[in-house]
Amino acid sequence: MDARAILAKLRRHEAPSEAELRWFSNGLADGHISDAQAGAFAMAVCMGQLGEAARVALTLGMRDSGDVLDWDLPGPVIDKHSTGGVGDCISLLLAPALAECGGFVPMISGRGLGHTGGTLDKIESIPGVSTAVAQESLGEIVARVGCAIVGATARIAPADKRLYAIRDVTGTVESLDLITASILSKKLAASPQALVLDVKVGSGAFMKTMEDARALARALTTAANAAGCRTTAVITDMNQPLAPALGNALEVAEVMKALTGETEGPLVQLSAALGGVLLADAGLADDVQAGADSIAATIRDGRAAERFGRMVAALGGPVAFLDDWRRFLPEADVIREVIAPADGNVAAIDGEALGLTVVDLGGGRQVESDVVDPSVGLSGLVRLGQQVAKGQTIAVVHAAREDAALAAERAVLNAIALGHAPGAVPDLIHERID
Ligand code: URA
Repeated sequence: MDARAILAKLRRHEAPSEAELRWFSNGLADGHISDAQAGAFAMAVCMGQLGEAARVALTLGMRDSGDVLDWDLPGPVIDKHSTGGVGDCISLLLAPALAECGGFVPMISGRGLGHTGGTLDKIESIPGVSTAVAQESLGEIVARVGCAIVGATARIAPADKRLYAIRDVTGTVESLDLITASILSKKLAASPQALVLDVKVGSGAFMKTMEDARALARALTTAANAAGCRTTAVITDMNQPLAPALGNALEVAEVMKALTGETEGPLVQLSAALGGVLLADAGLADDVQAGADSIAATIRDGRAAERFGRMVAALGGPVAFLDDWRRFLPEADVIREVIAPADGNVAAIDGEALGLTVVDLGGGRQVESDVVDPSVGLSGLVRLGQQVAKGQTIAVVHAAREDAALAAERAVLNAIALGHAPGAVPDLIHERID
């Protein structure tokens, strides 16, 4: 086969064959495809459209460019993926809850991307935790604990690793075909039997409109189901942060409060809803409601917390984390309250701006090599529709320095709009796509 012939097909808006896309994916992984050819491929796919069959073929070709995990476990392997948002720490809650309900969850996760936080950065804010786990250890932890949140090793979907880096510098990240193949090649390499996709829509998501979110949800579910993995997408609201905190250790603190019954709210509600869909799809619950009830019960009675503690210990964290989590989480040096400048109702929250504020505080990366500060971020955020009085705290900034805290305070004031009319409160869940 010849990369030039495949690129010429794309130039003529013809879809390459399954064999060609598999060959191209292997070439990306083993270096036979040059950077120039990979960049041309990404741009051609971005500017045209592969169509459903070729999108599935590219997804499977990229999945098979590396190892595909093989399991021998006494229950179904299941997983959840979010397309990215702010204050979205559902994975940390859901992985142990699902394990408590009989699933095995090898959750291969990512780092922060753009304004959105990453599950790996969050869990690594717990001292000692490392998500760089060898494949053999992943198998052992999943068999013993039931769940593990880990990064992709070099052997998982290497074609995606190469293509993603090239897309990042060629302006070709935004393509339904490439996003689908990229997300699913990594997820499907863990061989889940069922998958639930949390497709976020709104100001803090990559997809700002329902139309775009639906298109992504359809592309992902079609490709994953065609690959033999029972997959449902749920389009959920991201017009405000899911948790009242953004930032790595601050989000772990929110998870711990939810797991230990200190708080309830959207984090627990959405975990139950997504978990319910997944348990039903995996045959671990009679229906979605029964599944949601089971997830909520494991959170309410502390079983999910106990399982989370075991996962943390298995990943190198403190054995006593669950009992004494406040002592272990890093705290920022500078704490600054953001005060409401007037009376009003919270009318709009620019989630992307809040996410970027956390990146500017050092809680995310401007370039790949940046080291994140786990302690910084925002907490105590108000919610849409909430009434606030002049002088009331609407957020708390956690920063490493005074100047950074001041800049973040200004950014938060710009990102939270107060109005006079009672603000509309969006539903947490918009739509389900099978
Ligand atoms: N996440 C991924 O893993 N890949 C994309 O292309 C976009 C989001």
